Amino acid sequence: MSHYIPNTRIPTLVFDTSANAAHHAALIVERLVREHNSAGRATVLGLATGSTPVGLYRELIRLHREEGLDLSRVVTFNLDEYFPMAGDDSHSYRRWMFETFFNHVNIRPENIHIPDGSIKIEDVDAYCAKYEMEIRQAGGIDLQVLGIGRTGHIGFNEPGSTRTSRTRLVTLDSVTRRDASAGFFGEENVPHRAMTMGVGTILEARKVIIMAFGEHKATIVQKTLEHEANDSVTASFLQAHRDTTFLLDQAAAGELTLFRRPWEVGVVQWTPERIRQAVIWLSLKVGKALLKLSEEDFREHHLYDLLREHGPAEALGERIFLDRSATIQPYPAGTKKETILVFSPHPDDDVISMGGTLIRLVEQGHKVYVAYMTSGNIAVFDHDAWRFTDFVDAFNRIFEIDREHTENVKHRVQDFLKSKKPGQPDSDDVLKIKSLIRETEARAAALACGIPPDQLVFMNLRFYRTGTIAKNPIHPTDITDIAGLFEKLRPSQIYVAGELSDPHGTHRTCAEAIYAAVRQVRTRGQNFEVWLYRGAWEEWEPHEIEMAVPINPEMIERKKQAIFRHQSQKDRAMFPGGSDPREFWQRSEERNLGTAKVYDQLGLPEFYALEAFVRWKD
Ligand code: F6R
Repeated sequence: MSHYIPNTRIPTLVFDTSANAAHHAALIVERLVREHNSAGRATVLGLATGSTPVGLYRELIRLHREEGLDLSRVVTFNLDEYFPMAGDDSHSYRRWMFETFFNHVNIRPENIHIPDGSIKIEDVDAYCAKYEMEIRQAGGIDLQVLGIGRTGHIGFNEPGSTRTSRTRLVTLDSVTRRDASAGFFGEENVPHRAMTMGVGTILEARKVIIMAFGEHKATIVQKTLEHEANDSVTASFLQAHRDTTFLLDQAAAGELTLFRRPWEVGVVQWTPERIRQAVIWLSLKVGKALLKLSEEDFREHHLYDLLREHGPAEALGERIFLDRSATIQPYPAGTKKETILVFSPHPDDDVISMGGTLIRLVEQGHKVYVAYMTSGNIAVFDHDAWRFTDFVDAFNRIFEIDREHTENVKHRVQDFLKSKKPGQPDSDDVLKIKSLIRETEARAAALACGIPPDQLVFMNLRFYRTGTIAKNPIHPTDITDIAGLFEKLRPSQIYVAGELSDPHGTHRTCAEAIYAAVRQVRTRGQNFEVWLYRGAWEEWEPHEIEMAVPINPEMIERKKQAIFRHQSQKDRAMFPGGSDPREFWQRSEERNLGTAKVYDQLGLPEFYALEAFVRWKD
């Protein structure tokens, strides 16, 4: 399912999921290639790297393998490459393209062009001119695939790049380097420069597909599509291109006026959700409590239709006041003693996102289980693995435990770490130690919320076990494992991270695995409530919240203590998500206090803090 968005400066299609968008993109590529193949012509594709086009490449591989899509006449030009960068380096775009796509299809090696990051700096200008010439000699690019960076870059054309820029060496923006830092195991390892096709080069492509997925792209997508083209958002230059289509998932479309304030861009169907969204927006916008909104407030803010259809103002204010009041729930699982199952994608999402509610549920006498879905081992620093090896060695010495084995392991681990290169994947030993660090932290944090170790499950789902940032798709056994847990524990409620924007997609994959398992057990007659919390990065919008759990100052304090137990994650809050330097406990506290403040501004009861949840709707 997709639909065009009105009033954007580039034709834009929004899809339910990024997978559907990727399928659509693959269909466009497939059609073009088949058309050119039957005309005996080559197809020249401009290709991108990054997390965005992965689904497209997966689908093209499937089409090639299962539906006979012949790519032997395809010629490719990649957008960019870090500089300097050896072609076989694990971070090179060259290697990424071969591993992700080229190795699995029949594109001829001689038809593949990727800027070479290993050339000498003095040769760069001539090399870039040659790259441009090769594109021209190939007949120009038929179809260019693009992602968009949070700086608005296409290729690596950072803010300030001109509309006419050509293939060249550029300096990367600090936001871009921070976004890339997870893949490089630290910002300091991310190259400062890159070679990239220019905006002018890209604009010469006959057709362009640009894609963006996830909430973290929503702001830049809005600027690209709704602001006048300018060089602070280079993607906005695509507004002048004749045949560009923007493909979005719902999360990336979330900041567009059509979704934020649809009443400003056209006629609105006043569904109960829309009414709620509009009235809450209005109350916050004019700074008046819901029960104080006047006819004039509605009329002055494009909400005349709403007033006419569902007014008067007083009735609308009252309706939403009652509706929001009903979300406040100090007994999230009711007053009977129940079994509750909380899923935490990484070992710390439970306490970061719903630590207060966990404490409440335990205090209200429910039996709370937490299932940690992945080990989270890639987010542990080497120096922590080192320190714990040291600890165990000293511990075993004090208590006179098996010297020989201990020393062997310690040397094996520390020798590996000593010679480890930036970005090199960890040895199995090191991965095990890193998992253990996070597992023991999770136990300590759960205990701080009153949950004993025998109520914790470490699932170590298969899709995550790659030892690198890149993850596999959900494994069928992952789903059966989760369904098995439902059958064993028989919960009355489960809590799931309903995150749309975690940078590596782990939360999304975990959520999809849970949903599949819920569907499975439902067909067998098992039923329970499914509540979604937001992970570390975003919060539900005030109008989306369906359950708001009051958290008092003492609970916030305990929740913070629980977050502190995740010692290896200190200083890591900014690591995957980019530019937010606040730590997890700060973000979480600000978020909960912020939600309470919004409720207060709406004229609802005043709480110290609130944790917010939404029901899963299949
Ligand atoms: C990649 C490229 C970049 C990315 C952009 C988005 O070849 O040129 O412009 O498309 O940085 O990256 P992801 O998809 O990882 O969010």
